Amino acid sequence: MTLLRLDASIQGDRSASSALADTVVAELTAARPGTDVVTRHLGRDPLPADAWAHATAGSFLAEDRRTAEQRAALDLAATLADEVRSADALVLALPLYNYGVSQHAKTWIDLVTTGAGTGVPVLEGKPTVLVTTRGGSYGEGSPRAGWDHNTDYLRRILADLWRADLTVVEREFTLVGVNPALDEFTDVAAVLAKQAEQDAVAAGRALAAR
Ligand SMILES: Cc1cc2nc3c(=O)[nH]c(=O)nc-3n(C[C@H](O)[C@H](O)[C@H](O)COP(=O)(O)O)c2cc1C
Repeated sequence: MTLLRLDASIQGDRSASSALADTVVAELTAARPGTDVVTRHLGRDPLPADAWAHATAGSFLAEDRRTAEQRAALDLAATLADEVRSADALVLALPLYNYGVSQHAKTWIDLVTTGAGTGVPVLEGKPTVLVTTRGGSYGEGSPRAGWDHNTDYLRRILADLWRADLTVVEREFTLVGVNPALDEFTDVAAVLAKQAEQDAVAAGRALAAR
């Protein structure tokens, strides 16, 4: 089995999403030691922010009229789409930043869309685990309900457009213990952290069983 693992955290070793993705991958590889894990860390090694614009402009031109930048961007888009197509399963650790999808993840999505073709279900039926983390809480009735513009967007892209067989592992309140204003949520945050870890274990085992 080939697994594509993607991370988008900008928080290095302190990343909550990467820690959960580690758990998913550890469970999978413990059960299936021969798994080939291909990694891309978009937070540590970002894709060029202007690549998608160059790829898009180049895609409207005949090959011999493209600039060097446009050719390089289209090659990158094709490489990223190939990585997705070549994977048997995916683990994507894509956290919430500034109430939305991280810019690094968005660049990857845009380039894969260009490389694979708009509207092409590039993940058709593929087991895909989305790990997502957020510092606050966005549940029904909370002051910021509706402000998480990351998770539903990713569901639309991964499950509805790309047709992945999607499992979502999520953890809220990761800023409890970091931001003193959230101290009153210490107990609930601990419960959510434990649940997320259990969900990550279950997701890794389910991937191994595929
Ligand atoms: C620059 C930045 C912006 C953030 N914006 C938000 C936000 O809008 N809402 C929120 O709930 N948490 C926000 N957070 C907290 C992150 O969602 C939280 O740290 C989460 O665990 C990020 O995943 P990571 O630990 O894998 O990086 C932000 C964190 C950073 C560093």
